[in-house]
Amino acid sequence: MNILAKQSFRKGNGAMDILLTGGAGYIGSHTAVELINEGYGVIVADNYSNSSPEVIKRIEGAAGRLAAYDVDAGNEERLQQVFLKHQIDAVVHFAGYKAVGESVQQPLKYYENNLRALIATLKVMKDFRANTIIFSSSATVYGTSQAVPFDEGMDTGCTNPYGWTKLICEQILRDVAKAEEEFTPVILRYFNPVGAHESGLLGENPKGIPNNLMPYIQQVASGKLEKLSIFGNDYDTKDGTGIRDYIHVVDLAKGHVKALQYAQEHRGMEVFNLGTGKGYSVMEVVEAFEQANGVKIPYQITARRKGDVAESYADVSKARNVLGWEAEKTLEQMCRDAWRWENGVRSRLENEQFAI
Ligand code: WQD
Repeated sequence: MNILAKQSFRKGNGAMDILLTGGAGYIGSHTAVELINEGYGVIVADNYSNSSPEVIKRIEGAAGRLAAYDVDAGNEERLQQVFLKHQIDAVVHFAGYKAVGESVQQPLKYYENNLRALIATLKVMKDFRANTIIFSSSATVYGTSQAVPFDEGMDTGCTNPYGWTKLICEQILRDVAKAEEEFTPVILRYFNPVGAHESGLLGENPKGIPNNLMPYIQQVASGKLEKLSIFGNDYDTKDGTGIRDYIHVVDLAKGHVKALQYAQEHRGMEVFNLGTGKGYSVMEVVEAFEQANGVKIPYQITARRKGDVAESYADVSKARNVLGWEAEKTLEQMCRDAWRWENGVRSRLENEQFAI
């Protein structure tokens, strides 16, 4: 193959070709849509361990053409093949396992997979002189000892192996940026991503019983699960239930576009919170979902979940002032979009899975 004729779906000369590792996942697929809408060429490398090739078709249905490869980001040789086929200007790194509870049960699986995926990606980027990486991190790095709202200058520390893999990856990026002047890592600390693309084509499709609140509420609303267990109502909060910063996944995806544009103009490492800056309690989310969708969510109060904090929400002033980004969608929109996805494609996928 003539490696000079590298494949691209970019629209316009100014745009770039962006590799999304783990790009068929929940956040990755929504980010692919926003990048394609902005005229970027998008290439997905995903091992489909927590997604499927069908997601690629649904991204194309929502936005347009992209290239996709069944490639594990931890496999340097396979990743090099992708870089040989495309002139990759930047990487958005989503690839990694992300279930907190599972990470406690299987820490080695998480450390090996998540650290190897980043290190292999960085080594191949270096081989091909790609200097920009947007890294998917998490508010979980703030641990349990901080006072809200969390800001990027605060101390970090984790309560589970999943969170530690994120924090160790942040440190790896920080050290590579110190060693290589041109290297530009932008770290995005997500708060609580929820909701789905308005087309109903994309959304979160957790395997098995959902760990997180919104996908669990969705499945109670659709009758797949009997009732929601609210993990404690004796926290020192407005109604005793846990408070979190829920952010619409499309707002989060748009934050990645802004981070890429920032990285084109700057050098060195930066960290940004991606949240709304507003906290909602579990009870407020349940009520918002019921009102937005005209459904009832039966629930029971149970014991607190180990490792949970009472409150977590972001100080979002840095992303607003430096990236020129802030979340726009309301909790009602998050609930409506989540329900459309649950009631449509996700239910079909689940029925097909059980039909096999
Ligand atoms: C939210 C609130 C629970 C489920 C985790 C990870 C974080 C990120 C997002 C990956 C809490 C309560 C939940 C349920 C409940 N994941 N809850 N019943 O724990 O804030 O964050 O997911 O990046 O890294 O830590 O999200 O949705 O699990 O919980 O009462 O069945 O809902 O106690 O107050 P969390 P969550």
